Amino acid sequence: MRKMRKIAINTGGGDAPGLNAVIRAATLAAIENGFEVWGIRHGYRGLLDHEPGGLVHLDRDRVRGIGHLGGTILGTVNRGDPFHYPTRIEGQTELQPVDRSAELVARFKELGFEALIAVGGDGSQKIAHRLMKAGLPRVIGVPKTIDNDVIGTEVTFGFDTAVSIATEAIDRLHTTAESHDRVLVVEVMGRHAGWIALRSGLAGGADAILIPEIPFRYEAIAAKIAQREARGRKFAIVVVAEGAAPAGGSIAVKDKGDVFRGTAVLGGIAQQVEKELARRTNKECRSISLGHLLRGGGPTTFDRQLALRFGAAAVRFLTDTTDSGVVAISGDTINLCSFEIVTSGTKFVPADCDTVKTARLMGICFGDERPEHYFAA
Ligand code: F6P
Repeated sequence: MRKMRKIAINTGGGDAPGLNAVIRAATLAAIENGFEVWGIRHGYRGLLDHEPGGLVHLDRDRVRGIGHLGGTILGTVNRGDPFHYPTRIEGQTELQPVDRSAELVARFKELGFEALIAVGGDGSQKIAHRLMKAGLPRVIGVPKTIDNDVIGTEVTFGFDTAVSIATEAIDRLHTTAESHDRVLVVEVMGRHAGWIALRSGLAGGADAILIPEIPFRYEAIAAKIAQREARGRKFAIVVVAEGAAPAGGSIAVKDKGDVFRGTAVLGGIAQQVEKELARRTNKECRSISLGHLLRGGGPTTFDRQLALRFGAAAVRFLTDTTDSGVVAISGDTINLCSFEIVTSGTKFVPADCDTVKTARLMGICFGDERPEHYFAA
């Protein structure tokens, strides 16, 4: 098989703990295979903006000691889609979306890159796939997101870290909730999937877990709180996913997004739940959003290892095959999944999955129960 000489790697979309471990593993594996590796700064900006330092030569020294660090040494952006690239046009005050994909592909080839390792979530993989169709020679995607919502891979790195941080926060909130006999509503990220809320809610011993996949009713949660009260438990913890919504209601949105970003910024549901529960339970309620705390800092050991394996596997697929696609894990095997599958939608929590069943068996409320269920208990 023909050996490639020069490859590039970038990180796009929201960051996730483990990105630096991917960069380290991919770089070391590529160098071991005789390749030169370059990092593109801030998604594709390093190729399009012609700023000094837009491309970083990744050698052994550059990736030394970064495996345990959070963030990404390459930087990342949410508004950097080359097909709608924010571009200054003379005479216009606002940046305009311009299709710069052809320019990007030409620059990539001129620089002698033969493949791109694109580390990002489903949005970034969609862009990478489009760029491949537009002429990038080869692309290996590496899926990343704390949300764990990427189809084709059982898990993404960043998820375990986010769940661990959320669980620790819920543990801490328990003691203060109990001291004050309060209801504490904790909002966690996850976009339209409830994985983080479900796993951290179960691990942290939440009394109610509200996820986008199961529309909830306030009456059911209030009944659960009343049931606890009757049992002498004067406090409660409600974990709510940012994308969860009451039955017949709508998702709480902070910012609708724009032509550059594409997706909305979610947030604010915990405050709504706080208000509604205060009204219905007569208890003191408080809400907190864990937000970007779940993305900051270094990866857990699990995420670090997964990220290192994904990074090395990306290079293995480049050297051992002629295919493009996205690295994915199934059991203990790392496969190359097609871009079509990975970008076909969102991996939601199945409402009848084992974790939901376990939580229900333990009496955790999902907000879809009939209130009588709790009053009768
Ligand atoms: O996809 C990762 C994620 O953290 C989501 O959980 C969240 O909805 C979104 O990114 C937040 O994006 P931003 O950091 O741009 O506000």
